[in-house]
Amino acid sequence: MLRLKLKTLQEKLYSRIFWKLITINLLVIGSVIWLTGVSVNDFACLLVNQFNMVGEARKEFFNSTMEYYLIRTSIIAVIVAAVLHYYLTRKVVAPLQKLVQSTKKLSSGQYPQLLEAASKDEIGELTKNFNQLIIRLKKMEEAKKNMINDMAHELRTPLTNLNGYLEGLSQGVLKGDESLFQSLYEESVRLTRMVNQLDQLTEWEYKHLHHFELKDKVDIKPFIEECVKLFQLDLEQRGISYIVCIEEAQVLVDRDGLKQVMNNLIQNAIQYKIGDGDICIYGREEEGMYKVTVQGEGEPIPEEKREWLFERFYRVDSARSRNTGGTGLGLSIVKKIIERHMGEVGMYSEGNTHSFWFTIPLASRKLDSSN
Ligand SMILES: Nc1ncnc2c1ncn2[C@@H]1O[C@H](COP(=O)(O)OP(=O)(O)O)[C@@H](O)[C@H]1O
Ligand SMILES: [Mg+2]
Repeated sequence: MLRLKLKTLQEKLYSRIFWKLITINLLVIGSVIWLTGVSVNDFACLLVNQFNMVGEARKEFFNSTMEYYLIRTSIIAVIVAAVLHYYLTRKVVAPLQKLVQSTKKLSSGQYPQLLEAASKDEIGELTKNFNQLIIRLKKMEEAKKNMINDMAHELRTPLTNLNGYLEGLSQGVLKGDESLFQSLYEESVRLTRMVNQLDQLTEWEYKHLHHFELKDKVDIKPFIEECVKLFQLDLEQRGISYIVCIEEAQVLVDRDGLKQVMNNLIQNAIQYKIGDGDICIYGREEEGMYKVTVQGEGEPIPEEKREWLFERFYRVDSARSRNTGGTGLGLSIVKKIIERHMGEVGMYSEGNTHSFWFTIPLASRKLDSSN
């Protein structure tokens, strides 16, 4: 019903604009022709009267001939102008008609073909913006589809396992012991963590699409030291030593986002640690941004797998990561948050020493975060 109304409204709008343009142009041209004609006529009569160059009868003849020609020329001019205007205005308004058809298609839930922006005027601009809107909507739908597919894939196996065990226990086919209950509980905790992380990821995705302002000016040195302190107990219990070497600077960030980034990277450095080397956290200014690196010896990461680490649900060794409660979402959240800070993320390895790094803007740098 609403769609039908929109359709008729668009059609009405199109024909109204078209005829309005024609009428305005014809009125302007008609009045110019009329004014010119009257002026030429008056001027010619004035000359003839003033200089009395011809007799009375010839003067009459001159006046009527003049009037006849003026009227005839004016009528021809108006007809030619009307035809010309009809075609030219149609040409101007044609892209509008295409836009109207495309919006109709879009509002019916289909994606129309991208339109060609033939001119550089407002209509061309409107067409370009409309194309961008289609591309953006398509991307969003694609992202949504992929997200749902990935989620279904990741949740299916553990939930099937849980169901299987619970069914066996409830039917008395399986005898439960403490270790089975413990592992079932851990799996359910992991699933809950996954859902919470998905929530975070969507939240940052949402921020990505809307206006979002980096509002917190943060002294990076005490901030990172504070983040590390949260892991102090865990580090001590595992006998892991660490070095924090942060140059002082003020950065412009979202405080909670940055905390999340640091937590995820430190968590990984601890979780995947091998050997007895230190975990090192560095921070310094580099090329107008502030760069933080979390470095430590960790599980081997084959070179061909490195480019996938920041992808959603990606794990180098899914079985091992699952056993340690991993979800494969930590680094993708890091990436999303840092992208929102107009920074970059990356990693490099020397042997099994992996360095995960990211950049964030310095407080002195003015950023346009509107896109
Ligand atoms: N510091 C690290 N050392 C070795 N491997 C790592 C490290 N950080 C991340 N990884 C690898 O990258 C994968 C993705 O990490 P992440 O997105 O945090 O997911 P999760 O830790 O939940 O599995 C991990 O499964 C692990 O294989
Ligand atoms: Mg992780």
